[in-house]
Amino acid sequence: MKWNNSLAIGIEAIDNQHKQIFEHLLAIENSVAKRDPRHILRFLLSQLAEYMKFHLAVEEAMLEIVRYPQRAEHAQAHAKIMEQIAELEKQLQKTGSGADLVSFFEDWFIRHVLADDRQYAAYVREEFPALVGRS
Ligand SMILES: [Fe+2]
Ligand SMILES: [Fe+2]
Repeated sequence: MKWNNSLAIGIEAIDNQHKQIFEHLLAIENSVAKRDPRHILRFLLSQLAEYMKFHLAVEEAMLEIVRYPQRAEHAQAHAKIMEQIAELEKQLQKTGSGADLVSFFEDWFIRHVLADDRQYAAYVREEFPALVGRS
């Protein structure tokens, strides 16, 4: 699916990164739907994994700086996301098909953004409004 405004958490830099992640997911969905050769899928997945690692590191660094009280739990949820991506890579490489797996991961990621990311965003907006950027 495509990113839309209902997914915004109100921190501009983070919303832009989430948009990028949805672009990666869309590319993977399209690739699965077109039954692209496996090396293409592998490449797209490695790009998603790399970008996700960058994004999660940014969030974790920010939460550390602002001393977000639930930062340890948030980092744990991120570790799970990376595990899920590794699992997705394994499954898709094995089967070459797996649109349902991609949408399963997507749902999961959306839930993280809407629940966990939104929760820290409320804290950051309240305590560190200068970090939020225009919105
Ligand atoms: Fe996030
Ligand atoms: Fe997060």
